[in-house]
Amino acid sequence: MYIFRLSLFLLTTTVASAQLQLQPLNAAVLRGSKARFNCSTTQPPSVMNWMVNGRLVITILEASGVFNFTDRFSAQNFTTPGDYKWEFIISNVQRDDAGEVTCQVLGGAPQLATLSIQESGSVEIVGGNQTKTEGVQTEFQCRAVGWFPEPSMSWSVNGMANSCNRSSVAQGNLFNSICALTVTAVKNSSVQCLVSVPALSTPDTSTVFLTVEKLAKRDQTVLIAVTVAFSAAALLFLIIYAIFFFCMRRKKKSSYQEEIRRARIQSQIRTPSTENVQGQDNGGYIRDGHDGNTTNGVWYTNHSDKHQMTGILFDDAHRKHRHMTIV
Ligand SMILES: *[C@@H]1O[C@H](CO)[C@@H](O)[C@H](O)[C@H]1NC(C)=O
Ligand SMILES: *[C@@H]1O[C@H](CO)[C@@H](O)[C@H](O)[C@H]1NC(C)=O
Ligand SMILES: *[C@@H]1O[C@H](CO)[C@@H](O)[C@H](O)[C@H]1NC(C)=O
Ligand SMILES: *[C@@H]1O[C@H](CO)[C@@H](O)[C@H](O)[C@H]1NC(C)=O
Ligand SMILES: *[C@@H]1O[C@H](CO)[C@@H](O)[C@H](O)[C@H]1NC(C)=O
Ligand SMILES: *[C@@H]1O[C@H](CO)[C@@H](O)[C@H](O)[C@H]1NC(C)=O
Repeated sequence: MYIFRLSLFLLTTTVASAQLQLQPLNAAVLRGSKARFNCSTTQPPSVMNWMVNGRLVITILEASGVFNFTDRFSAQNFTTPGDYKWEFIISNVQRDDAGEVTCQVLGGAPQLATLSIQESGSVEIVGGNQTKTEGVQTEFQCRAVGWFPEPSMSWSVNGMANSCNRSSVAQGNLFNSICALTVTAVKNSSVQCLVSVPALSTPDTSTVFLTVEKLAKRDQTVLIAVTVAFSAAALLFLIIYAIFFFCMRRKKKSSYQEEIRRARIQSQIRTPSTENVQGQDNGGYIRDGHDGNTTNGVWYTNHSDKHQMTGILFDDAHRKHRHMTIV
């Protein structure tokens, strides 16, 4: 305690004259790591004090060496002839070490440097490895949790840099950030997310793999399935059509035979000649009419079936008549 009081007394009472150099003036280090500062003078300092945020943490006396309060603070002698240099080391840096670091020597003005404490958190690509079909759009999301300050983020796809649209939220005095990447599945790729803060010499990374399934193989199976389905449908249609056609043929044959039989019966009951004339007139009309064939067919195959025929003919004639009156 005597030594500290003495050194402070000397510093405050002596007129500044020595040239003092502090380096670096700005330091950013990760929490838990070491912070180092050099202070050098051109004249041998009888006393050198180091302060963190105004609190004296180390006193170095030319005569008796280094005095420190806790083992987190230490100093190393780098003195060379004509350059009196000491390195001040803060080990296991804490968030509340952030601020001002001061070097002061007897006979010199205090020199200030700024210390900032950064934090590296976790990096994770959400969802891990992915398997996609060729040509499909694939999204990757990188999540950085517990960083300070807001980290810079980027992607690397097969070693090719890709920027990202980062968004962050503050949680306490740390940042949680996310960043998305959309790629088209073209080839098997390694997708890497890089997260960094200035104090980190190399970015923290997370890597996942995108496995691309070739479309061709799938296409073939689909093609085969479609072909088989179509062939089956066509075959079924053919079978149904054949059955239908066969039935029609049989029905026609039987109705034809039936008509012949009926015609034979009818021919035994002779019809009057007037009705035949009327029938022939209308038959002529039907031939150039629109529905023709069946009526025609029926007419010619059984012109003696007068009841059926006259009904049809009368209707047609009647319709025709109406048409004519309208026109
Ligand atoms: C301080 O100086 C020594 C010797 O020149 C050097 O090895 C060391 O890296 C310096 N430290 C800093 C923090 O600049
Ligand atoms: C620092 O190192 C120099 C050169 O090696 C030496 O002369 C000096 O005594 C040392 N200072 C202390 C306090 O150990
Ligand atoms: C001073 O620093 C040295 C080196 O880091 C360490 O071994 C020592 O224990 C510290 N002294 C006190 C009182 O913490
Ligand atoms: C992703 O795939 C690689 C290699 O194929 C493997 O080493 C790694 O463990 C996988 N990662 C996950 C999260 O499954
Ligand atoms: C970045 O993301 C924000 C929201 O997450 C969105 O509004 C913005 O349009 C995006 N910008 C680009 C260039 O994609
Ligand atoms: C990707 O790799 C898998 C095996 O790891 C392979 O089956 C597949 O064909 C590859 N895809 C491409 C597009 O090369």
